[in-house]
Amino acid sequence: MAKARKEVQEKLKQVDVVLEIVDARTPESSRNPMMNEIVGAKPRIMVLNKADLADPAITKLWVKHYQDAGNEAIAIDAQHAKRLNQIPQLANQLMAEKIARKKARGIKNPAIRAMCIGIPNVGKSTILNRLVKKNIAVTGNKPGVTKNQQWLKASDTFQILDTPGILWPKFENQTVGKRLALTGAIADAVFQEDVVGLYGLEFFLNHYPAEIKKAYRLSDDDMALSAPDLLVALTKRQGFGEDFNRMAERIIFDCRQGKLGRFTLEQPGDTDDDAE
Ligand code: G4P
Repeated sequence: MAKARKEVQEKLKQVDVVLEIVDARTPESSRNPMMNEIVGAKPRIMVLNKADLADPAITKLWVKHYQDAGNEAIAIDAQHAKRLNQIPQLANQLMAEKIARKKARGIKNPAIRAMCIGIPNVGKSTILNRLVKKNIAVTGNKPGVTKNQQWLKASDTFQILDTPGILWPKFENQTVGKRLALTGAIADAVFQEDVVGLYGLEFFLNHYPAEIKKAYRLSDDDMALSAPDLLVALTKRQGFGEDFNRMAERIIFDCRQGKLGRFTLEQPGDTDDDAE
């Protein structure tokens, strides 16, 4: 952790703007716990990636939440290159005064230098590749692994560091862990699949009942069951016997693939108990 942090801090010295990448389905849980401390006062754009998988109404609340806290914020879908071109525009707005000062000193087209920072699997490499419109093999994609750095051109006036800053995920409490496990941000080995599958099932029953009803063709009686009882019923119905883990794995897979619809596991102002 100390090495990853030091490495990111070294890179930070070279950049004007930080792109903090989070997963739009778990914006707070997918932030590194020390991000604010590490980034400090450096201008920052909160990038809520994978917005194509997240609940659009809640994504809007999160964007406003981060804007209200004084950051620029944007929701994007890097996979399908949606709204990515707004990132350089936002960086321009953030750096307007510095750019004006440079121009006043006679520098014609001052470039903004940026870097992506985030926990693994939030889409940092995908964003880099889409921004510079080519495929860069992002090697050293592990905390603490260094390689020679290069500036890549997203445009004449926007450059981005080819190696993202990779920081560790939160392990603050069980709820945060289960959110990260359900979306695939942490390794499947960290939690048992029945724990994560059950968490997902319960969350959908409470927050997206219509979607889960449709996806698993549930009756009104099914919908009245508790999540553990429903897991048992679904396991049998799928022909998995008493292999509840297999059904839990199916639920996790379906969530990640978007088969249960777009969802967001936390809202601004949630306490962890609200989210369960
Ligand atoms: P990282 O550098 O932060 O570790 O993340 P990376 O870009 O490798 O992205 C992790 C996974 O998330 C990749 O899937 C990538 O395609 C997917 N991804 C990135 N951005 C988006 C987005 O905006 N929307 C969606 N739907 N997916 C996105 P992968 O390589 O296939 O891995 P996996 O799906 O097997 O986990």
